[in-house]
Amino acid sequence: MNQRLGGDTRPIEPFGLEVQFDLSKGLSPEDGAALKALFLRHKLLLFRGQTLDREQQFGVLEHIGPVDRSSPLDYVMPDDPVLGTRHLAFHSDMHFAPFPAEGVSLLALDVEEQPSYTAFVNAAAAYNRLPDDEKHAVEGKRSVRAATPGVYEDELPYDLPEGMHSMERDVVMIHPETGEPIVYVARCSTSRIVGLDRKESSDLLHRLYDTIYDEAHMLKHWWRNGDLVIWDNLALQHARPSIEGITRRKLQRVTIATHEQSSQIPASYVSPVQVENWQVREGAK
Ligand SMILES: [Fe+2]
Repeated sequence: MNQRLGGDTRPIEPFGLEVQFDLSKGLSPEDGAALKALFLRHKLLLFRGQTLDREQQFGVLEHIGPVDRSSPLDYVMPDDPVLGTRHLAFHSDMHFAPFPAEGVSLLALDVEEQPSYTAFVNAAAAYNRLPDDEKHAVEGKRSVRAATPGVYEDELPYDLPEGMHSMERDVVMIHPETGEPIVYVARCSTSRIVGLDRKESSDLLHRLYDTIYDEAHMLKHWWRNGDLVIWDNLALQHARPSIEGITRRKLQRVTIATHEQSSQIPASYVSPVQVENWQVREGAK
């Protein structure tokens, strides 16, 4: 018989919580409330050995927030047309949209044992690790974000390539539910800090990146069949190495989003394939 959700848990280092619970039978309102509380507190939850179809996964996630049924990416696979196989640098999904998804979940339907992982860093914890003068330096600052899905290996240039969609947003995001400050910049998708010259912007961003991407605070989740990982897409950033050569890696994706994601994708969105072509073209000049 299922215990109460949250009654059997194990902390994951350096953050996150593994929860023992069979989600396939649905959740009582009490278990659903416990799921949401654990999600907001730990920011990453792992349930192993799960068998859920897409509708069931929607049902689980709905206890945390509204789910996005028109998401442009339902399954992450080596041959998926959006991401392909390439390395994805640390990013928050839809960071370039006015309202990025609040949560993302992936369920491993069919994966080869051990060959691939998703990495996570906690940008809310990173804010807390900033020295006081850095917290002061980012206060009220805005950054320029480009509509790339985390494909830049290195950092995005101060001057964006022509035609690449961009938007400004606060460097420090306040989490809509927990009120926690989050350092919401990412090396692969933030080009500059508004109002700072090249050197000032680069110096400040590098200090922020050093804190966010400190390997001592990084989590790598190696996928096994039946793993369901649910994470806070605002507080955490995620990344993955190239999955070139991996044939079996099917992850069922469901997002929690107060605002539908597909309607926020700008017409000038740059896909990984387009960026790859652009990089090749620029490199050939
Ligand atoms: Fe992503």
